[in-house]
Amino acid sequence: MSADPRPLTVHDLLSMKAAGRRVVMLTCYDAAFARLLEEAGVDVLLVGDSLNQVIAGHETTLSTTLEQMIYHAAAVRRVSRRAMVFVDLPFLTYQVSIPEAIRNAGRVLQETGAHGVKLEGGSPMAETVSALVECGIPVIGHLGLTPQSVHALGGYRVQGREAAAADRLLNDAKRLEAAGACAIVLELIPAALAADISRALTIPTIGIGAGPQCDGQVLVLHDMLGLNEQFAPKFLKHYGKLAQAVREAVRTYASEVREGKYPGREHSFE
Ligand code: KIV
Repeated sequence: MSADPRPLTVHDLLSMKAAGRRVVMLTCYDAAFARLLEEAGVDVLLVGDSLNQVIAGHETTLSTTLEQMIYHAAAVRRVSRRAMVFVDLPFLTYQVSIPEAIRNAGRVLQETGAHGVKLEGGSPMAETVSALVECGIPVIGHLGLTPQSVHALGGYRVQGREAAAADRLLNDAKRLEAAGACAIVLELIPAALAADISRALTIPTIGIGAGPQCDGQVLVLHDMLGLNEQFAPKFLKHYGKLAQAVREAVRTYASEVREGKYPGREHSFE
């Protein structure tokens, strides 16, 4: 019997950056997929608040609750072995005050067993990141297109194209690193800016729509598996055709049930 693999830690994330090994992150919302992602060797399972869109069918992430995140994160963590599990703090669970952020992030770790949290925002969040890290809560930052600010940003569009905005993002990244963040997600920013930010930091950058020179990559699982065929932005690659596979399997099942072919004798009890 083979022993469980050694679980990754925040130190491994930093060592991977130092050694030039890319971090593989995917979103994950349930135990069934968490098992598969573990078997495939994913380094970090992100229980993203994108579950509000992907799983619950909402337009944005804004109405996600802490209870929903805890429910899904506990399912993912229950079956994870080697991968680290990070959990998005939902909108308004960390912006109102630092004590609230500590209490909510603490609940996530206590009630799910997850290894850390992710939160959105740059310099204005640095104090909060620092307070969480001082409490022993690993934090991943998130810059660029920050979906919880979709209305303020005017939609899901590329950020940091103008020089001033690019400078601000680079400065934000440095502030988050100084505050103790263990990694930073860079979403929808020009590849050259992501490369500059990645070079400027000792913690890994994890890109989504941020080009090839980040220290790791993340995608929304259902999008990269091709479960959501309508969603096809430039940065996304479909690594599977699961929507097609599901439709075919269900059509075959439906016609076999209607024709009385399923269940056959081999699926029936004497
Ligand atoms: O919620 C999420 O899935 C995310 C990723 C897009 C990084 O934050």
